[in-house]
Amino acid sequence: MSLKHWLLPKARFESYEDYVGHTGEHALRKAREQSPEEVIQLVLDSGLRGRGGAGFPAGVKWRTIYEHPCPTRFVVCNAAEGEPGTFKDRYLLRKNPYAAIEGMLIAAHVVRAERVFIALKASFKQEIARINEAIKEFHQAGLLGGLRFTIVEGPEEYLFGEEKGLLNVIDGPGPMPREAHYPPYELGLFATPDSPNPVLMNNVETFSHVPGIIRHGPDSFRQTGTQDTPGSIIATISGCVKRPGVYEREAGVTLKELFYEAAGGPVAGHEFKAAISGVSNGVIPADRFDTRADFASMQLIGSGLGSAGFVVFDDTIAMPSVAQAMARFLYVESCNQCTACKHGLRIASTALDELMDEQSDQSANILDRIISGAEHAPQGNRCYLPVEGAKLIPSIIKAFPSEFEELISNSTAPRSMILVPKIVDYDEANHSFTYDKLQAFKNPDWTYSVPEGVTTLPKPSELPATAPVPKSVLLFPENRDRLREMSEKSGEGIEAMVNRILTEWASQQE
Ligand SMILES: Cc1cc2nc3c(=O)[nH]c(=O)nc-3n(C[C@H](O)[C@H](O)[C@H](O)COP(=O)(O)O)c2cc1C
Ligand code: SF4
Repeated sequence: MSLKHWLLPKARFESYEDYVGHTGEHALRKAREQSPEEVIQLVLDSGLRGRGGAGFPAGVKWRTIYEHPCPTRFVVCNAAEGEPGTFKDRYLLRKNPYAAIEGMLIAAHVVRAERVFIALKASFKQEIARINEAIKEFHQAGLLGGLRFTIVEGPEEYLFGEEKGLLNVIDGPGPMPREAHYPPYELGLFATPDSPNPVLMNNVETFSHVPGIIRHGPDSFRQTGTQDTPGSIIATISGCVKRPGVYEREAGVTLKELFYEAAGGPVAGHEFKAAISGVSNGVIPADRFDTRADFASMQLIGSGLGSAGFVVFDDTIAMPSVAQAMARFLYVESCNQCTACKHGLRIASTALDELMDEQSDQSANILDRIISGAEHAPQGNRCYLPVEGAKLIPSIIKAFPSEFEELISNSTAPRSMILVPKIVDYDEANHSFTYDKLQAFKNPDWTYSVPEGVTTLPKPSELPATAPVPKSVLLFPENRDRLREMSEKSGEGIEAMVNRILTEWASQQE
């Protein structure tokens, strides 16, 4: 197995010189000597797939933006990393920020971008400092080539990582995804009616693979991983394993190898029961752990690779508790712009709260409410969040029906809550993750209600208010029709137009 395309060094790269010393050639200089078409062809031939969750072919995305008629383009690196169970982007930035920056600069050369952004949460202090230092080094080495490089320090919300939500953080309104028909490659940053300014957005790990592909060529990249998913993957493995951690392996390694060999297997006296890959895909029962960790194989078993953030559960964990925590997370993080999403996830989440609450009288249709609430959440959805709920929540009930039936039929059966595995730090030396304890006290309107002195998880009956505060505005039909006509006439999108009109109106009021 070739290590040419490995992203994580054993010891962190201390400087740009250190990075170049280990990786050899200057990929950026090599890329700049080639035409954008040639570089795009290399990325296409490499088969590189996005590591942010969906596995979209990177070369296809790059070519789409390159061919876009609008001459103003931007490059954005998605380093928001808010998916429960993942810490790989932060770990990669801590160990090796140079590969991602070099990948972004190569992308800027290809799509002729004038500005480059890297977006991460304001709370990622270590990574922000590391990127700042690395950018200074690229600047001192004369490699920025007049490009403006901006670090965006964003909010904690899960939707900050969603690509249209992320652009809205840079563009003003906050982490609220734009309409589904405005993907970043169609409507980018600082757009005007005449200039949509498309954005090339990739995940940290995706950009980080690009320099290696330029240095050693696509064939070399394809020698690692599988035909479906060439290259390495950086997996985060947390939960009930002996050695939680972040591990880089060839794509196509089996889950068994990841959970038993890399992460040390279950703790003594226990057995694995299931795993989830973030909150975006179906649950993986332990009898499927011989599956290969690549996009196609994971999809074939009704799950998905996602961002390779695996949370593993053993026989001490009740699966209804997992469903309750994950449903609550998705419900709280939904932004309520699309009615069915917040409403459906609320039905699923509150039904699971009820199931977990021994005080509540367990009504007979509780499982129907959970499943149909989740399955009906994706309707007219701007983003993929409700689809995640529709996949994950029913899959847990379908894989472990007896655990749910036991709680319904036996009101005295033990119930315990678990923490959403939203990782906020990683102690590599001790193989331990720190989790966000505040998430359990986050309200569906994104405020927090933390009772004074509380250090443990709340009981279901103590969960913060479940009524969402509406964030969308209902337009009267006459206004809606007028706006639609104006939009059709001018070619300006309704959302952009309403925001422009409101901005103009508000500034007249000041
Ligand atoms: C709710 C939600 C949260 C997401 N969070 C992240 C994130 O934190 N980081 C990320 O890279 N992609 C995230 N994504 C995926 C991005 O929308 C987008 O697909 C990705 O940045 C594209 O990069 P890639 O093609 O390199 O994978 C999220 C998607 C959804 C629906
Ligand atoms: S689908 Fe859900 S999370 Fe996505 S924009 Fe609509 S309400 Fe928000």
